[in-house]
Amino acid sequence: MPGLFIGGATLADGTRTDLLIRDGVFVDPAAVHRDDERVDAEGLLALPGLVDPHTHLREPGREDAETVATGTLAAARGGFTAVHAMANLSPVTDTRAAAERLQAIARADASAQVVVVGALSRGLAGEELADLDGLHAAGVTMFSDDGRCLMNARLMREAFDLIRTFDGVLAQHCQDHNLAGATACCHECSISHELGLEGWPSVAESSIIARDVELAAYTGARYHACHISTAESVEVIRWAKRRGLPVTAEVMPHHLLLETALVRTGDTVYKVNPPLRTAEHVEAVRAGLADGTIDMVGTDHAPHAAQDKAKPFPEASPGMLGLEQALGVVIQTMVGPGRLTWADVAERMSYAPARLTRLAGQGRPVAVGEPANLVLVDPESARVVDRENTASKSRNNPYDGLLLPDPVVMTVWAGRVTYRR
Ligand code: DOR
Ligand code: ZN
Repeated sequence: MPGLFIGGATLADGTRTDLLIRDGVFVDPAAVHRDDERVDAEGLLALPGLVDPHTHLREPGREDAETVATGTLAAARGGFTAVHAMANLSPVTDTRAAAERLQAIARADASAQVVVVGALSRGLAGEELADLDGLHAAGVTMFSDDGRCLMNARLMREAFDLIRTFDGVLAQHCQDHNLAGATACCHECSISHELGLEGWPSVAESSIIARDVELAAYTGARYHACHISTAESVEVIRWAKRRGLPVTAEVMPHHLLLETALVRTGDTVYKVNPPLRTAEHVEAVRAGLADGTIDMVGTDHAPHAAQDKAKPFPEASPGMLGLEQALGVVIQTMVGPGRLTWADVAERMSYAPARLTRLAGQGRPVAVGEPANLVLVDPESARVVDRENTASKSRNNPYDGLLLPDPVVMTVWAGRVTYRR
């Protein structure tokens, strides 16, 4: 097999280097051979392959909205070499057999590593624990009822006690259902009142995180707060970290860029859980990501079929696409304004999410001897997002029509080119 020679790339720390990939590994570039393919990376950054801690792939169950094949192609187009596949599938990933079925689909179809996330509760019903031991036997280390908040504190405690025994992590979808009705569909503020929509108060998020942090402290287990979106949540995570607790948090691109005023358009593409917030919250999550309180960026890539979005706002399915624009949004909101360096981007979008589930072979530096997971980035490239230009099966792209950085030139997963512009 010919190798891949990448000439003159710049690493996250600013050093310039040639790279040579052979048999899935970075090797000494001096060993380049005339049969090797050559790519000119002058002016391009070589970052470690991105790792998404939070992806919805929809297979099995809603293959009309996304499949493992299309979702991981979207991941590759976004510079990702691994995604964590959330359990809210049909059937739910709540047994060893379900996890192994999904792993088998991924082996056949995927353009990025698929890390299976197991459910916390059986059927995501929040009433009894899923088969966490069986899921762990299938290699699962992260457990989440994402899409729903696990409200029952006793079940949370039981889950923490079990998960701790195998150094797993409990990832919570932080939204207290008791603080909002079934029709809650956006952020509670003057805009929701003006539009006559029921809102989610910000305290529905931060109060759950505070409770969970106490349970994590009491049990000694690892806790991960999914898609945090409010200033108060950032404060709670800050407090947990000051106490030295094994707590991590993620923020999504849409919460870094978009505001709840977009709900005034009536376009259900802007409906998402947790909801888009106000400018003060957006600033708080940016500041939290900049100072490391928020450990990582996830996408919450949530494809939905057109008919599930073509409904009145309170009834439309929540969720938006994220994989293909995630890095562009992070550049726009964080790197451009000088709030994150490229080394910080590697940490927040590759190393930290890989550490979350102790992934071997992902979230490693671009260096000789390491597995060849790589994204080549053009920091100057920008274009208007066109929701039709996508690998996803769905079109619920909240960035459609926006001019954004368009950085991904090439993605390499385990030595194999999974995307090339
Ligand atoms: O908006 C959301 N959509 N939030 C979630 O937590 C789940 C996701 C989905 O699966 O559609
Ligand atoms: Zn969620």
